[in-house]
Amino acid sequence: MTEPSHDPKLKVLVFAAALRKDSLNARLAAITARVAARYGAVVDHASMHDFDTPIYDGDLEAGGIPAGADAFHQRLLDNDAFVIASPEYNGSMPGGIKNLIDWASRYRPQPFDGRHGLLLSASPSMAGGNRGLWALRIPLEHLGARIFPDMFSLAMAHKAFAGDEIGDATLRARFEKNIEAFLSLAEAAKNYPCIKRAWVEFLGEPPQPGVDRVDPAPA
Ligand SMILES: Cc1cc2nc3c(=O)[nH]c(=O)nc-3n(C[C@H](O)[C@H](O)[C@H](O)COP(=O)(O)O)c2cc1C
Repeated sequence: MTEPSHDPKLKVLVFAAALRKDSLNARLAAITARVAARYGAVVDHASMHDFDTPIYDGDLEAGGIPAGADAFHQRLLDNDAFVIASPEYNGSMPGGIKNLIDWASRYRPQPFDGRHGLLLSASPSMAGGNRGLWALRIPLEHLGARIFPDMFSLAMAHKAFAGDEIGDATLRARFEKNIEAFLSLAEAAKNYPCIKRAWVEFLGEPPQPGVDRVDPAPA
């Protein structure tokens, strides 16, 4: 039997887009990391602190992309897929994660293009921060990421954990099914790539050196 030319196991970056030490989203990300490992993924569990980055500034970029954004870019490249557990701030995503996406989008090849992602949220509210995830989908999908249709939002998250688990058994099963479904799709896409595509960031812009916002189509 011939050996596969690459590691067929899915590598997945998991982190929370939150900085505080008692973050509900960091708790959800930690549970996600364990569940994903149980389903056979190789998990790279990161912290938003690993990606600490100043606000995007084109002048700063001219001197080199900051270390935090560079680390994020590298971790994206090192993994096949990503999971973000993000708080909702004022009905949208936190500025920190948008800033990080903006910095990472400056690399070529553009690292989100074709990469599979899953979005989760946790909030004390009854909606669980779900509106923020719809906002977070926009820049990621704009950049060509394949964001999984099902998103999981943990409502009343300040009361929803029991130790290092989601307390309610029905909700826990729904969450784990969501993780499993995402991993299955991302693993299939890694091992049996079939989508033919070409990413263009700004529609109507001619692909030409100098104003190039187009990644070459994968071979
Ligand atoms: C600036 C700010 C805006 C917020 N806006 C919302 C909101 O729109 N919807 C919501 O459900 N929670 C909102 N919250 C409450 C957060 O969901 C809550 O603080 C949550 O615990 C933050 O995530 P973390 O625990 O992972 O840090 C907001 C919190 C802050 C600090």
